[in-house]
Amino acid sequence: MNNLYNHLMDEFNTRISNLIKEETTIAEAMNYSLLNGGKRIRPVIYLMIKDMLGELKESDYKFAMSIEMIHTYSLIHDDLPSMDNDDYRRGKASNHKVYGEAMAILAGDALLNYAYENLFHLLKEDSSYIDSAMLLANYSSHTGMIYGQSLDVLHENKEAHKEIVEEIVLNKTSKLLALPFICAFGNDIKETAFKIGRAFQIKDDILDVEGESEKIGKTIGKDEKSGKSTYIRTYGIKNTKIYLSKLRDEIISELKRYRSYDKYEEFIQVVEFIIDRDY
Ligand code: IPE
Ligand code: IPE
Ligand code: MG
Ligand code: MG
Ligand code: MG
Repeated sequence: MNNLYNHLMDEFNTRISNLIKEETTIAEAMNYSLLNGGKRIRPVIYLMIKDMLGELKESDYKFAMSIEMIHTYSLIHDDLPSMDNDDYRRGKASNHKVYGEAMAILAGDALLNYAYENLFHLLKEDSSYIDSAMLLANYSSHTGMIYGQSLDVLHENKEAHKEIVEEIVLNKTSKLLALPFICAFGNDIKETAFKIGRAFQIKDDILDVEGESEKIGKTIGKDEKSGKSTYIRTYGIKNTKIYLSKLRDEIISELKRYRSYDKYEEFIQVVEFIIDRDY
């Protein structure tokens, strides 16, 4: 990835590694999943766009940390035996494999709560984050990410109709992936941001079939084994790749309207990474 991405990721990682400092088992379990590993794509997109607009400030890191805490909690719960039953995440044993199921549930709950405690502190300092905070709450709710996760589980081993796959992907992934674009840029980018979110999950599904386990830090072949309703099950891998490539062209062409920004090239490279990545 480019220098700007790496720089913002380093700055973000420095701050988030100083966030939870208690020496308790629950704090350790939270930090186990939150630190060391993860592409940080959602927070870095937010920070990068703010930087491109010349608006990046310290409090943006605070908002970005709440996004990442909610994302990380969703991963811990996603891996639980009662959900995807995955033993491997971010290149390490899943949270429940190390701390046990009870502690993994609690670590997820605690990250979710702390994401909002952190947001309330931010809002007390600067109420201009209110719309972003409300969108984060909505996009991760029972009408957003959790709704998508519920459909994902309910539609295991069922016929993967196109409409249901789209509904699953829109909610479980696109909303939280589109969120940093919308919060940083405004509604102008919303439609394109949702396409980027869809492309991100399609790539995730392709990597589940063709990726290298060591690179992606997850077990591969899980979606087919669990009978997940994915684009790949609906259209087959070949057509899914053709669709992703068309979606990529649409996205890049729609983003051209931002080309007058100084850091446009770096920004486009990050969007391309979302689609072309191999981890
Ligand atoms: C994985 O998200 C879950 C999906 C929404 C597909 P990421 O691929 O962003 O996971 P990390 O944060 O890099 O581990
Ligand atoms: C999960 O989708 C999306 C979340 C909200 C966590 P997946 O189940 O495909 O994500 P991975 O492949 O386990 O990361
Ligand atoms: Mg899942
Ligand atoms: Mg999963
Ligand atoms: Mg997956």
